[in-house]
Amino acid sequence: MTDEQIYEKDARDYLPVFARYRIVLDHGDGVYVYDTHGKKYIDFLGGIAVNVLGHNHPALVKAVSEQAGKMIHCSNLYYTQVQADAAEKLIKISGLGKVFFGNSGAEANEGAIKLARKYAHGISPDKSQIITAVHSFHGRTIATLTATGQPKYQEGFGPLPAGFDYVPYNDIEALEKMMSSNTAAVMLEPIQGEGGVHVPDAAYLERVRELCDKFDAVLIFDEIQTGVGRSGSFFTFEKFGVKPDIVTLAKGLAGGVPIGAFIASDKVAAAFHAGDHGSTFGGNPLACAAANVVLDLISDSDFLANVEDMGAYMKSRLEIIKTEYPQLVKEVRGMGLILGMELTKPGRDIVNACLEKGAIINCTAGNVLRFVPPLIVTRQHIDEVCDILEKVMKDFA
Ligand SMILES: Cc1ncc(COP(=O)(O)O)c(C=O)c1O
Repeated sequence: MTDEQIYEKDARDYLPVFARYRIVLDHGDGVYVYDTHGKKYIDFLGGIAVNVLGHNHPALVKAVSEQAGKMIHCSNLYYTQVQADAAEKLIKISGLGKVFFGNSGAEANEGAIKLARKYAHGISPDKSQIITAVHSFHGRTIATLTATGQPKYQEGFGPLPAGFDYVPYNDIEALEKMMSSNTAAVMLEPIQGEGGVHVPDAAYLERVRELCDKFDAVLIFDEIQTGVGRSGSFFTFEKFGVKPDIVTLAKGLAGGVPIGAFIASDKVAAAFHAGDHGSTFGGNPLACAAANVVLDLISDSDFLANVEDMGAYMKSRLEIIKTEYPQLVKEVRGMGLILGMELTKPGRDIVNACLEKGAIINCTAGNVLRFVPPLIVTRQHIDEVCDILEKVMKDFA
């Protein structure tokens, strides 16, 4: 089948919700993917922060193949060792109390919101307010798009669930004004990803923690984009020294096999009883076999130290590009291997030009180039992408 035939089929059959780039990908290898013509692309998007071990990592392929040969799925009415192992690892790494597995980020956040509401309801039926941040992104189910502090994701989907309020990110006074004993939860990304790679002040997150303690509100960190080693520690909350009551994960947790998880402190988790939540596929053996590989490799301190080093190196190269093209680049920001380059104009043409030259990068929030590559990137990979970006910037300057 030709690419044109695939585009035609897609236009005819698939809901037109994605603004896709016109390439058909065929396979991947490490940090590279190949299209149907054999053209090679260096992949610094990694399936949007998903392919943390790159493409076709041998340990991941082995674990998934072996598990597929044994049992792909069984219901949560029974136990499996792979699920028990994955849960144990997450509890150990997070220092929290109980985990629940779902299938996606939105579903993880949906579960976290449910648990927070249930916990708060146990204190008072009026304690239901969920506070999130402007420019946040928490998913596309009805509750999570309501939690998402961006009207463009909400328009046309009303009536939205009640009880959600929004405050500017990194603005502690706004949060102080908004909170009360009726606040059930504050839900934040420790670095806003989709909203444009915004890193908050550590003092802000510390104060958020204090306010949640004061009002007995559940602090939920959405680490769907920032978790699983992305910032150079397994959870980004470790970088800030602020521990949430619930943390949510998805994306990279099983290296590309669909999975989501929320992990809660024992105190909050105690609000859920049999029948309060569930999932047919959540935590199935295939996803958990993959997650076990990811958890073993990425919780390693040398692995994480390398993410930090590579992130610092890439940031320094992006800073150089900023000084070379100040008319195009406003700011470089981020932590570890979640990096953003804010442009003075929309980024889509630059992304397209990079793609043309064999580099997959992404633009979010209209004008922020976002780099969330596989966590196995080397200096050579970073140089390859930055060299392409530099050439493209020259053409646009
Ligand atoms: C911070 C954050 N939360 C939630 C989600 C939603 O995850 P999913 O697309 O797996 O539902 C995303 C996806 O980009 C995200 O970045």
